[in-house]
Amino acid sequence: MRKEFYLAFVIALVMNILFFVYWTPGLYSLIVLIPFFALGFRDILQKRHAIKANFPVFGHLRYILESIRPEINQYFIESNTDGKPFSREQRSVVYQRAKKVLDTVPFGTQHNVYSQGYEFVTHSMYPKHVEQSDLRTLVGSKHCKQPYSLSLLNISAMSFGSLSPNAILSLNGGAKDGHFAHNTGEGGISPYHLEPTGDLIWQIGTGYFGCRTEEGQFDPELFKKNANLPQVKMIEIKLSQGAKPGHGGILSGKKVTQEIAEIRNVPLGKDVISPPAHTAFHDSKSMLQFISELRLLSNGKPIGIKLCLGHKHEFEDLVSVMVQENNFPDFIVVDGAEGGTGAAPLEFSNYMGMPGMDALVIVVDALKKAGLKEQIKVIATGKITTAFDIVKLLCLGADATYAARSMLLALGCIQALRCNNNTCPAGVATQDPYLFEGLHIPTKRTRVKNFHQETLAAVAHVIGAMGIDHTSKLTRHLLHKRVEENKIKTFAELYPEVTVS
Ligand SMILES: Cc1cc2nc3c(=O)[nH]c(=O)nc-3n(C[C@H](O)[C@H](O)[C@H](O)COP(=O)(O)O)c2cc1C
Repeated sequence: MRKEFYLAFVIALVMNILFFVYWTPGLYSLIVLIPFFALGFRDILQKRHAIKANFPVFGHLRYILESIRPEINQYFIESNTDGKPFSREQRSVVYQRAKKVLDTVPFGTQHNVYSQGYEFVTHSMYPKHVEQSDLRTLVGSKHCKQPYSLSLLNISAMSFGSLSPNAILSLNGGAKDGHFAHNTGEGGISPYHLEPTGDLIWQIGTGYFGCRTEEGQFDPELFKKNANLPQVKMIEIKLSQGAKPGHGGILSGKKVTQEIAEIRNVPLGKDVISPPAHTAFHDSKSMLQFISELRLLSNGKPIGIKLCLGHKHEFEDLVSVMVQENNFPDFIVVDGAEGGTGAAPLEFSNYMGMPGMDALVIVVDALKKAGLKEQIKVIATGKITTAFDIVKLLCLGADATYAARSMLLALGCIQALRCNNNTCPAGVATQDPYLFEGLHIPTKRTRVKNFHQETLAAVAHVIGAMGIDHTSKLTRHLLHKRVEENKIKTFAELYPEVTVS
């Protein structure tokens, strides 16, 4: 809307010059117009709010409505959710931590602690101190030559293409400043991922973008070139993601610009197909061989797989082949059916794939039974917005976590739910320069860093209050859930811990 604003300004200027010459009373319109345009120019020049920069003057309406929303909600909306994937409470905690403003809630708990499904952790009479610098885990099995010290919270896979250049630059900048990792998503490594020099986890999907032959097969030489970039710390083979498991994708030829063609190694202007399945392997054994090949080509960097769990027996088969072959990935990322995406078919988004917590338990327990849990690190996702969300996943057996959408909220996403039509008003999930230029990179990279830092500081406080001095001591016994009106169970009762003899 900046273009329209400039146009309105020019028209108003010309009209006022004419008024000045022919009709003096017309000048009174200046009384209205000068403050209007002054506000508009201030909006365009300020750097804090992409919405105001993209929609000068009118963008204020959003903030006015937002400021009276708590009162409106009291009258019209009963629960804390408002029909969006992240509730108002979840969004406001991310915004507050990203902006490093007030980080407390007034008046007591805002949850009904007697409602079914209420979850909580228990605290100790003897709290401990936890160092924030300890909130890392070393990823790298015995087969790996370049283990990586991974933060407990990292940026989950989201490609350049689904996100704007400014969003990628800000995310990677935040990762650099806060010493955590940024996953490229399956769209390849773009210059926007490399410029800020933050640590990267390079994701490879079925399209093999950045390491494909012209026919779309895996190209070892191209892979080697990118995998050995110093910024690439780990490599992740994407089998599936929670929001559209088992679904491929087409990138329309119209969207294959020169820039995208170069980044993804695809022909300019032609449709690009990401099939549902990988062509480099077709079963457990060949997948593990592919992992070995990548390990060799990358000179021993950690190689992992990402999946939304589907058929349980397939995963169990994979684990038993890992044991037989004495070969396994260095990490496994577990995404849940509740996961996010830029765009997905409704059926795949709403009715396919295992929910994250159940999947995490199945994966962790299968690895423990096989004696592989020490070798393979498990990274979990799950709509993380608070330290409790992280602690919960760690109690269930995860070693580290990824967050996608809360990182977008930290960037200024307002959940307009327009990621799939290139009109994201916050300039996050769009390739429209008018919209993404409003996203001020230095401000947003600081917000991403702040969100990460404040959330991990809260993790340290929470586990300290639980009487624990290291995340490795978190267990399912410490996590509770009200399952009936008068019954609370621990997660150890709900999902019994595997004991390895
Ligand atoms: C805009 C967007 C793009 C995404 N792109 C990818 C992708 O390229 N590869 C992938 O494995 N997951 C992708 N995801 C899924 C996330 O990486 C993540 O697994 C999922 O959203 C769950 O995390 P969350 O609950 O913190 O959002 C994308 C998610 C979003 C919101």
